[in-house]
Amino acid sequence: MLQIEDFGALSKIETPFYYYDIDLFRRTADLAASLSRETGIEIHYSVKANSDRRLIEMLSSRGFGADCVSGDEIVFAVDCGFRPESIMFAGVGKTDKEIFQALQMGIGSFNVESLEEIAIIGDLAGRLGRRVSITLRINPNIDPHTHHYITTGLYEDKFGISDVGFDGAVTLLRQFPNIDFYGLQFHIGSQIMDVEEVFRLECERVNEIVRIFEANGLTVRNIDLGGGLGVDYDEPDLHPIPELEKWLRTIDRHLVRRPDQKLHVEPGRAMVAQCGTLMTRVLYVKKGENRRFLIVDAGMNDLIRPALYGAYHKIENLSAHYGGGPARESRVYDVVGPVCESADTFGTQRLMEKSVRGDLIAIRSTGAYGQVMASHYNMRPLAPAVYSDRLSEGPRRKDYYSQQ
Ligand code: LLP
Repeated sequence: MLQIEDFGALSKIETPFYYYDIDLFRRTADLAASLSRETGIEIHYSVKANSDRRLIEMLSSRGFGADCVSGDEIVFAVDCGFRPESIMFAGVGKTDKEIFQALQMGIGSFNVESLEEIAIIGDLAGRLGRRVSITLRINPNIDPHTHHYITTGLYEDKFGISDVGFDGAVTLLRQFPNIDFYGLQFHIGSQIMDVEEVFRLECERVNEIVRIFEANGLTVRNIDLGGGLGVDYDEPDLHPIPELEKWLRTIDRHLVRRPDQKLHVEPGRAMVAQCGTLMTRVLYVKKGENRRFLIVDAGMNDLIRPALYGAYHKIENLSAHYGGGPARESRVYDVVGPVCESADTFGTQRLMEKSVRGDLIAIRSTGAYGQVMASHYNMRPLAPAVYSDRLSEGPRRKDYYSQQ
């Protein structure tokens, strides 16, 4: 059951909202920072996982870099304190405007995903009279054994340059005197649970690929292994902090490092998933023909992961646990939202305490790819953030830019 200090204060806040456990978030970030120092592996937080200003300012203040996927993410990351030179700019479809913007801001490196992109970035940087650091994102053709929507390192995926493109990439890099070859980047997928096996395989493949580029006369100064570390969605209380240590030590052990070579990773989910909970309230308990529906006031517009990926999130009735009153018997429910779509379902056939109108319900492990993937579908407002250490301040609406 979610540990909360003040159910009274929490239950007065208008639902739905995202509740962030700041103590857990700090402990996760501090562990990541100390492992990074110990192993010498630089961490670039993947801003796409959660761009809550307060959370990411806490990450930038710990010295992490950032992994960004759009011009606005770069502007926001810098506004939140990330040093421009610590920013990696990834994505298969960077626009000219975004490229110019990133060049002018002096970001650390462009992670390019195709030969076409190398030529465009080399050309645009030349027009600005700038040098540009380029990292090649490689598609190593490794199966990370995760959901096919979040698998990114197979030949069938749109991401990265696969081995047939290596020679062409090397030739192109040499054609542009203003391009500095920064290194190689890999990201094979997300929510990887088989940490040791998958990342050992990835490291072995990376070692081979580095040798290919070195044989072509290039110095691979940086190796970036992307993100992908999974979290325990089934039992968040058993594993509130993901296996950051196993992950970074596996990389440290299996990746062959040359002197002066830097290692980087780009975790998103692992940094933020477990500290977030989508809080919602029961509107109606509807008895269907052969199902009992718990209709709550959060919808798929607030959290799309179950609808989009069939993702599992643990669902708990906090009122039954913290609200006082006698112990409740159990019932099986389909927990659904108010949006006009059958896919607006957070969980089917869930065994929970008997629930009544007004009960506060927690949808767990929603700190990553939750609030950031929300939409206004059905003209519903965006759920705000509430922080465990600032309950009295109430909800905070999404704030992308300080100047707005
Ligand atoms: N680096 C690159 C190049 C990426 O594409 C991603 C995630 C990351 C780092 C961070 O990966 P993480 O550590 O979070 O696994 N919306 C999906 C996940 C999409 C992941 C996209 N790329 C979900 O809700 O499961």
